[in-house]
Amino acid sequence: MTEVSSPPFTPRSIDHPREELGLFPLLRTMVRNPLETWPQPLFTEPLFWQRFAGRPLLFVMDPALIDEVLVAKAQVFPKAPIIRRTIGPAVGNDSIFTAEGAHWRWQRRAAAPPFRHATILGFVPAFGEAAARAASVFTDRAGETVDIAELMMATTFDVIVETMLSGAASFDTRRFGAEISHYFDSVGWIAALSILRAPSWVPYPGKRRARAGNLFLRQEMVRVIAARRARPGMTPDLLDFLIAAADPETGRAMTDEELADNLLTFVVAGHETTALALTWALWLIGNAPEVEARLLAEIAEVVGDGPVEASHVDRLVYAKQVVQEAMRLYPPAPLIPRIAAADVTIGGERVAVGTPVYVPVYAVHRHQMIWELPQAFDPERFAPERARALHRGAFLPFGAGPRICIGAAFALAEAVVILATLMRAIRFIPIGGHHPLPTIRLTLRPDGGMPMRVERRQTPISHQTGT
Ligand code: HEM
Repeated sequence: MTEVSSPPFTPRSIDHPREELGLFPLLRTMVRNPLETWPQPLFTEPLFWQRFAGRPLLFVMDPALIDEVLVAKAQVFPKAPIIRRTIGPAVGNDSIFTAEGAHWRWQRRAAAPPFRHATILGFVPAFGEAAARAASVFTDRAGETVDIAELMMATTFDVIVETMLSGAASFDTRRFGAEISHYFDSVGWIAALSILRAPSWVPYPGKRRARAGNLFLRQEMVRVIAARRARPGMTPDLLDFLIAAADPETGRAMTDEELADNLLTFVVAGHETTALALTWALWLIGNAPEVEARLLAEIAEVVGDGPVEASHVDRLVYAKQVVQEAMRLYPPAPLIPRIAAADVTIGGERVAVGTPVYVPVYAVHRHQMIWELPQAFDPERFAPERARALHRGAFLPFGAGPRICIGAAFALAEAVVILATLMRAIRFIPIGGHHPLPTIRLTLRPDGGMPMRVERRQTPISHQTGT
C-alpha cells in the first residue's frame, strides 16, 4: 500500500498511435521523435511484430521473455547493427559499447576496477562537491527560471571528468555538451534512413555538423591521452586501467584510437544518462509535494546539516526509490536493440536469423500487464520489499545480462548524492502550463529542455563535503 494520501502525480504522456504507422508518417515521425511511432500494443501486449518497410521487427515486452533475450540467450541476441550505425560514428565500432565477443570481454574486464563498490564510495565527496557547485549556481539565480537539464548535464560531466580522469583534463563543458547534442539530434535521420536500407553515405540535414562535432570530441580525447602518456596519473583512474590492459588472446594493449573510443564512450554514456535521471526526478518531485516532504525528512534524518558522506548512501533509501521511479517513467536509455543471430523461438514466435528484436524499455516500464496505474509517479513501488517482488525483466533502466550497464551502481550512488545535496538547498518549482514530453535522441530527453523556477530553501546547507 502506498503511504501517499492524495492521488499520485500523473504526468501528461504521449498520445501513441493505435496501430503501426504507414511508411511515410512513420519516417516523418521518426525524424521528429521516434517515441511517437511506438504503437499502443507495446504498452498492452507481451510481444508485438512491426513491419518496417516490409521487414519484420519483434518488440518484446513480457519480463520473462525479456530475460530470455537479454540474459538466458544473450549469445543468440547480440547488439543490433542499428547501434553501430547510430553511435558507431561517435564512439567507434569496436569500443566497449559496440564490440562483441572476446574483443568486448577484455575491454569490459579492463574497465572494471573503477566500478567496484569500495571505489565508488570513495567518489562520494566528488559527487557532493559537484552537487554543491550546482546548488550555488541555483542559489545565485534564486527566483529565476532555469533550464535544469543543462545544469544537470554540466554537473554530471564534472563528475565523470573528476572521477574517471582524475580531474586532470580541462574541457570546454558547454562546447562538449553542444557537440554531443548536435550528434544526438541527427540520430532520428539515421534511424529513418536505415529503415529505408539507405547506405550510410546518404546525406541528411545536420550530417556535416554532426561529423564536425564527432571530430572535435575525438580530438579532445586524443589530447587527454597524449597528456597522460607524458605524465601518468598519481592514483590510477579509468584511463590508466585502460592504458595498462592487455588483450589476453594477443597480449596487445589498446591503441590510442581504441583508447579514445572508450574514453568517449564513458564520458558520453556516463554523464548524459545520469543527468537525465536527475532532471526528470527533480521535475517529478516538484510536482509531488508529499514525495518532496518525505524526501526532505529522510535527508534531514540520515544526513543532518553536514555533507552527504559515503556512509549515508545506502541509508538514503527513499531517495533511491525516487530516482528509480523517475527512471521507470523516463528511462534515460529507452530502447535496447538486439538482433537474432540464429533461427530461434521466443514466446512461441519463430524468429528468423537477422530479425531485429527490440526491448522497448520505456513501454515495459509503463506496461499495463506489469504496473498498477502505470503512468502515475509513485516511488513506493520501489520500497525494498516491493522491489524484491519485481521480475528482473520488468525494470531495466540499466539493461540486463552480460551487457548490463557497467556504471549502474556508480550512477545510482551519484544520483542519490546529488539529489540529496540539491534538494536540501533548493526548491524546484514547475512552470505552470509546461508539460515536458519525452523525446528520443538516443537518450530520453525532455523536449524543449526542463525550465523550472528555483528558490533557495529557508535552512541553508553547508557547501562543504566530507572525505
Ligand atoms: C542513470 C544512468 C545510466 C543509465 C540509465 C545507463 C543505461 C545503460 C544501458 C541500458 C546500457 C546497456 C545497453 C545495451 O545493453 O544495449 C548501458 C551500458 C553501458 N553504460 Fe550505462 N547507464 C547509465 C550510467 C552510466 C555510467 C555512469 C557509466 C560510466 C561511468 C556508464 C557506462 C556504460 C557502458 C560503458 C556501457 C556498455 C557496457 C557493455 O556493453 O559492456 N553508464 N548503460
